[in-house]
Amino acid sequence: MSTPHPSARATPAPAPAVRAGRAVRKAVIPAAGLGTRFLPATKATPKEMLPVVDKPAIQYVVEEAAAAGLDDVLMVTGRHKRAIEDHFDHAFELEQALAAKGDTVRLDAVRDPARLASIHHIRQGEPLGLGHAVLCARRHIGDQPFAVLLGDDLIDPRETLLSRMLDVRDRLLGSVVALMEVPPGQIHRYGCAAVEPTGEEGVVRVTGLVEKPAPQDAPSRYAVIGRYVLDPDVFTVLERTPPGRGGEIQLTDALEQLASGGTVHGIVFEGLRHDTGDKADYLRAVVRPACERPDLGPEFVAWLRGFLGELDGTRPGHRDVAA
Ligand code: UTP
Repeated sequence: MSTPHPSARATPAPAPAVRAGRAVRKAVIPAAGLGTRFLPATKATPKEMLPVVDKPAIQYVVEEAAAAGLDDVLMVTGRHKRAIEDHFDHAFELEQALAAKGDTVRLDAVRDPARLASIHHIRQGEPLGLGHAVLCARRHIGDQPFAVLLGDDLIDPRETLLSRMLDVRDRLLGSVVALMEVPPGQIHRYGCAAVEPTGEEGVVRVTGLVEKPAPQDAPSRYAVIGRYVLDPDVFTVLERTPPGRGGEIQLTDALEQLASGGTVHGIVFEGLRHDTGDKADYLRAVVRPACERPDLGPEFVAWLRGFLGELDGTRPGHRDVAA
């Protein structure tokens, strides 16, 4: 069976909800972590390049930045830098071959990543932590506020989280983090925020932050997820931040210092989000868009229903074709 259309055509990014005159123009995407939770797949491939249907996870993240009007993207990469660099570059041989065949759909899909934004790369020599990865961006960012989007953290493209965060930064200044309420048993996987209300629906003031607390030490159920809008002050704090949990320079520790000065706000996010660096969440991140894709969904959902029937014993086994 021939492969249907590439997803870039089937699920276009939402129309940019860009407000004129925003202070933030640049995004930083840290993608230099070791990805140990996903070994051995990540031995020679960055986890950010693992496919979610037919695009690498990091492409969705760049699309999200571009949709929010951030047209300058700095990738902080480590080992395996080339796969990420190549993906966001032109591929002349491939483009020529597709052009010669008149395959414009695939040609566009191949060209799209390089057209999303002005993309830059910097190398984090050693994976010394997320805070250190952000510090590596200092020269490129300069003295302006900027966004940080973790390259393995996927937010449903229909959401407007990043735009809301940029709006809050424009109005309240300081830094803005994205928060998600999680069950108490999961808080130890995240940075956790102590918060107080601001009077504005969905916006809280962050009064403290702690990295990966035990459930009994967690100040709330609000987990920090992989979207930040940071004031350039964070660089000065990061420079002085010693290695913390896991021996890594933690962004959470630097934000904790900024929060104690009253300059950090949180946006409470209630939408869909997946950590593709976690195996179980990666599978969820792939299945949902596959079901929703017009070119793949009908056949895949029919198969999935049959498979689930097999699992719960209501349908005969060995179903390897669509019902
Ligand atoms: P993670 O906490 O997921 O760590 O990083 P990790 O090392 O990548 O993965 P595991 O836990 O070993 O499986 C969160 C984000 O910060 C980046 C990662 O690439 C990811 O996007 N990161 C982390 C860096 O860029 N540099 C670092 O030193 C650490």
